[in-house]
Amino acid sequence: MPDKIQNSLSARMSVLKAEGAYNVLTKATQLEAEGKHIIHWEIGQPDFPTPVNISQEAIRAIKKGLTKYTPPLGIMPLRKRIAQEIIHSRGLDISEKQIAVTPSGKTALFVAMAALLEKGDEVIYPNPGFPSYETLARFFGCKLRPVPLLEKNNFSFDMKIFTTLFSKRTKVIILNSPGNPTGGVMSQDDLAVIAEAVKNSNCWVITDEMYSRIIYDNLNYPSFYSYKHLNNRIILVDGFSKTFSMTGWRIGYLSVPKEIIDKIDYLLTHLVGCTATFIQYAALAGLEGKKTELNKMIAEFQKRRNFIVKRLNQIDGIICQKPQGAFYVFPNIKYFGKSSKFLADYLLRTAGVALLDGTSFGKFGEGYLRISYATNMDNLNEGLIRIRKALANI
Ligand SMILES: Cc1ncc(COP(=O)(O)O)c(C=O)c1O
Repeated sequence: MPDKIQNSLSARMSVLKAEGAYNVLTKATQLEAEGKHIIHWEIGQPDFPTPVNISQEAIRAIKKGLTKYTPPLGIMPLRKRIAQEIIHSRGLDISEKQIAVTPSGKTALFVAMAALLEKGDEVIYPNPGFPSYETLARFFGCKLRPVPLLEKNNFSFDMKIFTTLFSKRTKVIILNSPGNPTGGVMSQDDLAVIAEAVKNSNCWVITDEMYSRIIYDNLNYPSFYSYKHLNNRIILVDGFSKTFSMTGWRIGYLSVPKEIIDKIDYLLTHLVGCTATFIQYAALAGLEGKKTELNKMIAEFQKRRNFIVKRLNQIDGIICQKPQGAFYVFPNIKYFGKSSKFLADYLLRTAGVALLDGTSFGKFGEGYLRISYATNMDNLNEGLIRIRKALANI
């Protein structure tokens, strides 16, 4: 009977499945309920509280009655402030009229893909990559063109494969730098090759720069959104979840060419109406406030990254690159001769360390694990001791 009901859904619903992180979290929570102590390395969210000025502004806004609808594209002061940030960080000349506020980065991604993609269109995207890229490309009936990320190249695109996959049939290229799940930052050289290809085509780029402020080693962050001459064919997806530790607030945004903003407005009108009003004011306070807490968080993440990379490389059989962004590491575990899924499950059950297998992010993630170091030093240390012991017994 459930099958019969499911079969009556639209065909596109059949492509939807659970995300790896949620599956592992469910298993880990079950083990905790049975009394087992679990170290959580699976969750992709900062362990820091939302900065106080943001929370206080949300409370002030609610008390002031800012609890009604706003225009679908968001309140103007927030759109203006986002535009200023983009102008300042990317050296662009954009207007607030190009900004659309959304209830999450995920909504921004959905809106961008829905606006551009047709059944049968070819979509190039990173693999291993954020799972929504592939799932949504399937959902919109597109042809999948995953580009493997290369460990030896800071987990940037395999440019040879990119060049063979890119053609006049390519409708959208999705970029994500710094990337989830690898933390890799794409080099200016690789971005330049992509820009050159796009320049001579009709294809669009969706650049997901959700982690663009979480960058280490004083790296001068190369953003695809700073290619001015291509700006009429790039959509920027960004949000507040990671930078301002606001994962549960649900707020993100898009920056789009001015020619399409009306259509984005109408799509948001029918999809969400608007983003929660007091949360928009809170996000504005985040952008206007001092960046002390953000800077502290980044300094702490950098310390943790250095620590976990060094210690992982001291474990026999593990090779771990030092990523320059986000809060993930993606160690190579091919030496153990087991699938990533097996190893992730083994480490959860025998060592009580919850982490994700690389294939949760696509087939080219085989041979890797994803560790989120958005947890405190004690948990990192304890997890490292546990996995070293468990891997020695394999
Ligand atoms: C690469 C990437 N893009 C987009 C998102 C979506 O973020 P949110 O919907 O919380 O704004 C995430 C969240 O994990 C992410 O890792």
